[in-house]
Amino acid sequence: MPLFAGIDAGSTTAKVVLIDDAGAVVARSIRPGGANLAAAAGAALRDALSAGGAERDDVAGIVATGYGRNAVAEADRTVTEITCHARGIFHLDPTVRGVIDIGGQDSKAIVLDPSGNVVRFEMNDKCAAGTGRFLEVMARTLEVPLEDMGRLALESRDPAVISSTCTVFAESEVVSLAAQGRAVEDILAGLCRAVAVRAAGLAGRARIQPPAVMTGGVARNAAVVAMVAEKLNIPLTVPPEPQFSGALGAALFARDTAVPQPPRVSRAQEISS
Ligand SMILES: Nc1ncnc2c1ncn2[C@@H]1O[C@H](COP(=O)(O)OP(=O)(O)OP(=O)(O)O)[C@@H](O)[C@H]1O
Ligand SMILES: [Mg+2]
Repeated sequence: MPLFAGIDAGSTTAKVVLIDDAGAVVARSIRPGGANLAAAAGAALRDALSAGGAERDDVAGIVATGYGRNAVAEADRTVTEITCHARGIFHLDPTVRGVIDIGGQDSKAIVLDPSGNVVRFEMNDKCAAGTGRFLEVMARTLEVPLEDMGRLALESRDPAVISSTCTVFAESEVVSLAAQGRAVEDILAGLCRAVAVRAAGLAGRARIQPPAVMTGGVARNAAVVAMVAEKLNIPLTVPPEPQFSGALGAALFARDTAVPQPPRVSRAQEISS
């Protein structure tokens, strides 16, 4: 049976999803990106093939997406990130109308119509504040594992106020709050809130409506998800594998080549995303 691969070469991690011709996920893999996104993407593809018990020749089509998509040598073609995220999420749940993706370097808010077309989107890729990178820097400063950050932040009863929007100044603020004896939970809650406020601002500009989901690596931080939902005053759900929706969308586009599907977005949207 032919397989299809989607590679999301993000700024921080490379994700691969392998699907079969029925669109079922056969394997997933993720690698840290670092400076060499192309190498990470190639390694993630090899990991996914070995996890799926498949060979390179079993793969009939490969689509790359994400920040580093043009550097992925293994890809047959590329599709823009917004289009792939929308496609992946709509495949998982066609009732979804809003997607908020916070990755390592940017955040995006996407509005879908009932057919899964991208109606509009907003993106912030100017600054590390409000992204996963900001949280990574702060987790390191506070010596808290990234995966514990959300759980600990939710334990805070008195979140600290982080007033700097700049990552560098916010880091000094964190060091100073810690030196003053402020509880780590409170500082973490303040940091998650700072990211959530920015994401909610972006989602507000995109006029996100429910049912809406949160994706990207930062969707694994339960405090940020809860705070964005609170700010927007709408419920937000997180799909089971929130970091892989772009790669899933790319894999579905790869499958289209062999199994044609109706187009999801207009040409104009594709060019502008
Ligand atoms: N277990 C985890 N718990 C909480 N946060 C996490 C976890 N794993 C990753 N993250 C966050 O996810 C971010 C990376 O997300 P993701 O893999 O979606 O980024 P990316 O797609 O490479 O970046 P971009 O889309 O901005 O180009 C990290 O910066 C980190 O903040
Ligand atoms: Mg991404």
